[in-house]
Amino acid sequence: MAELKDIIILGIETSCDETSAAVIKNGREVLSNIVSSQIEIHKRFGGVVPEIASRNHILAITNVVDEAVKLANIKLKDITAIAVTYGAGLIGALLVGVSYAKALSYVLNIPLIKVSHIKGHIAANYIGNNDFIPPCICLVVSGGHTAILKLEDDINHKYIGGTLDDAIGESFDKVARALSLSYPGGPIIDKYAKNGTANITFTKKNELKNSYNISYSGLKTAVINYINTKEQKGEEINLPNICASFETEAIDGLIDKCMRACKEYKINKMCVAGGVAANSYLRQKLTEDCKERNIKLFIPQMSLCTDNAAMIAVAGYYNYINGVNTADLNLNAVSTIKL
Ligand code: KG4
Ligand code: ZN
Repeated sequence: MAELKDIIILGIETSCDETSAAVIKNGREVLSNIVSSQIEIHKRFGGVVPEIASRNHILAITNVVDEAVKLANIKLKDITAIAVTYGAGLIGALLVGVSYAKALSYVLNIPLIKVSHIKGHIAANYIGNNDFIPPCICLVVSGGHTAILKLEDDINHKYIGGTLDDAIGESFDKVARALSLSYPGGPIIDKYAKNGTANITFTKKNELKNSYNISYSGLKTAVINYINTKEQKGEEINLPNICASFETEAIDGLIDKCMRACKEYKINKMCVAGGVAANSYLRQKLTEDCKERNIKLFIPQMSLCTDNAAMIAVAGYYNYINGVNTADLNLNAVSTIKL
């Protein structure tokens, strides 16, 4: 039930292959979070087909929003503002959520707030964690981004370093494809890696070791070359060991950089954002490394790591109370947003 003084945000997310709507009370309490996934539809194509994604968002959006409002036990008139993902993502997919949010905010005559998808992933850390208060070092590991940020406060961040080419999630998905595993590859590699040993070194030289930047295209190519060479020689490949070795190499270097950033910026708080935050090895290694250094670690619960509207509503709440990123009927979708 919404009290008069409560700030109720309806979040809408349609940037890729999940149609989602959520209702959040006072920035941290999830009243509802409905996620309708299209993964099964896109699986047969080995990845997300943008046009198919847009069409399925259109089919789902009304029911998803209605369900979120109903489950939250509120009326449309209780909503303070609507927060919507306007980028980064697939333009056609984003436009479904943006158009729906614009229409609803116009009809209800309430503010519209634009939210960057990655800021949404970061905001997932607020949910259920009353002691999550920046400053904080944040590791962004998603399908489209890989970066280390310093969260200055609830809305501003400083870019410390990141990938110079592919994103980490993208490299998981591409390596999975080379191994003939299904889409999305990240969770499958994670599963195989649990039964494997990280006994293969794919990239021997790491020129970026002392930098905050990282590269994934070299690692991805090295894994693909390894698989091709084995095939040409008619040798069996050990799938669990390849997955464990790739995963370790993709994650260890990144975690070392985060530990270095915490030290350099004298911050003993860390958080993780994005789909790859669901990776079990990353969660375990980061927990161990932070514990060793007395760094308080926040990782969103599994269901909040991948795309959902609860995180968008939370980011929208902080935009709203700080009076930033308010939008109007001119709001458009954008495919990229610089971190
Ligand atoms: O963060 P996200 O929603 O993508 C963007 O917003 O860009 O997450 C999707 C990515 C995919 O690349 C997927 O393979 C990866 O997250 N992912 C994982 C796991 N679960 C999802 N990667 C590694 N291990 C997992 N358990
Ligand atoms: Zn995402």
